[in-house]
Amino acid sequence: MTYTSSTVRVPDVAAVPRHIAIIMDGNGRWATQRRLPRVAGHTRGVDAVRAAVEACARRGVEYLTLFAFSSENWRRPNDEVSFLMRLFVTALEREIGKLHANGIRLRVVGDLAMFDTRIQDLIRRAETKTARNTRLTLTIAANYGGRWDIMQATRKLVDQSVAAGRPVEVTEEAFAEHLAMAYAPEPDLFIRTGGEQRISNFLLWQLAYTEFYFTDTFWPDFDADALGHAIESYAERERRFGRTSAQLEPQSQNVDSLPC
Ligand code: FPP
Repeated sequence: MTYTSSTVRVPDVAAVPRHIAIIMDGNGRWATQRRLPRVAGHTRGVDAVRAAVEACARRGVEYLTLFAFSSENWRRPNDEVSFLMRLFVTALEREIGKLHANGIRLRVVGDLAMFDTRIQDLIRRAETKTARNTRLTLTIAANYGGRWDIMQATRKLVDQSVAAGRPVEVTEEAFAEHLAMAYAPEPDLFIRTGGEQRISNFLLWQLAYTEFYFTDTFWPDFDADALGHAIESYAERERRFGRTSAQLEPQSQNVDSLPC
């Protein structure tokens, strides 16, 4: 299992983040500024997704996680929700061959039961086709919510206890094993475009010690250079994980015995 808890053990830190998680915000405002319908911003947003995937693969980022549709996005007008679903299907059908050819593994996390079965089948086929790729894992969070994730992991622990006829031991790592992204390390860098400074029910558990980067740039304008600036900002951060600056060498020591 790749997941290690940053609150149990200090993870290794490098200048290039292993895992970047992004809230792609500002599509609607990008379009409105140009007197275009909001959905035109989503269409351009797909181009920015492609640019981000390419830039991450080039820079050696191992995991890129994109918040495409939150549990709360169902509250949007029906026609915008339907447009986003169609856009997702079209993008997946069109890009999956290229992702595979470039060694990219695709995963989709979220409550997929809410999507129609055609979309669910397409997702499963794309995941299966790319399952053995190792260059970059691209995760699309769709109908995802951090609280949903924590609840579904809790239910699995409860189910395990019921099946065992006794309460299973509840540790951070036993719990995190049931999170939807148990296959990935916690994000090193969280980026939100579009000017808002909130995490909007994204990876609530995993963002405990993630570095945050907020930019006013709207998602359709977030290109390889913009990603480069975010990574440069990250490289300048001192990631202490509860320690003092003086303790920072050597990295990767177990925090069990350290005061917070
Ligand atoms: C937020 O901007 C964006 C979304 C809710 C959808 C993001 C979807 C894409 C970028 C395209 C599909 C993705 C994939 C992975 C193929 P907003 O509409 O909230 O913008 P606003 O805040 O300016 O209104």
